[in-house]
Amino acid sequence: MADHWIENHKRDSWRRQAKASGYRARSAFKLKQIQERFNLIREGDVILDVGCHPGGWAQVGMELVGESGFVLGVDLEPCQPVEGALLLTGDITDPHTQERMLAELNGRPLNSVVSDISPNITGKWDMDQAVAMTLVAQVFDFSLPLLCKGGSFVTKLFQGVGVEELIVAVKPYFSDVRRFAPHATRNSSSEVYLVCRNFMPWKAKNFSILESYEAALNLKLGGDDVDEGPEIIKSSFSVRRKKAE
Ligand SMILES: C[S@@+](CC[C@H](N)C(=O)[O-])C[C@H]1O[C@@H](n2cnc3c(N)ncnc32)[C@H](O)[C@@H]1O
Repeated sequence: MADHWIENHKRDSWRRQAKASGYRARSAFKLKQIQERFNLIREGDVILDVGCHPGGWAQVGMELVGESGFVLGVDLEPCQPVEGALLLTGDITDPHTQERMLAELNGRPLNSVVSDISPNITGKWDMDQAVAMTLVAQVFDFSLPLLCKGGSFVTKLFQGVGVEELIVAVKPYFSDVRRFAPHATRNSSSEVYLVCRNFMPWKAKNFSILESYEAALNLKLGGDDVDEGPEIIKSSFSVRRKKAE
């Protein structure tokens, strides 16, 4: 009960601070704290903001990249404009949305991908967590080919089955991959970000994070075991034919 009260109090305090600072969402402070700790985003950078509604991270992103930089955001929900950013409405896994994003980038490589994406919660924790982790792997697959050498990738993780497998799948492509829980998270035990630094594109040819992730998960959960069916037991029973009379 006391823990619950402290969590609620902290959450309200971040919400009040967000309102006072003009940020649209409390989540803005999470990106600020990630930036304070890792210094990933610089002036002039091109940033992809995945799951950008209502626009808190896009506001912080624009503050960091300045007028010479650019923030491209995407979300299922339409966003109020953020000056200097382009916030598209669409599903990042949909090829049409992906085409629009590529057209807007027009060949400009990304310096950072920041993804706060979280799918609709059904309340069935195992299922929500599995869907969310698959979505995170899909975001990696779409955006890693657009990331520049030395670029960074930040994504919300959903603690539970598959987290270790996802980390193993992305580790070969970055020189540093670690978990980070900003103070502004709702509940530090369940909301954690994966911070991947210094992308090495030459290691990421013909890769699929989703495939590596699913293969590792199947191995762990035994999902790919071949069901060989019941064992055939030899029977000593035989039928004697009646001799013809
Ligand atoms: C926690 S909110 C992001 C908050 C945002 N970082 C901010 O500071 O304002 C997560 C968002 O992910 C979006 N989302 C979920 N699935 C998506 C998908 N397939 N494509 C694009 N956005 C998605 C949701 O619509 C939701 O707005």
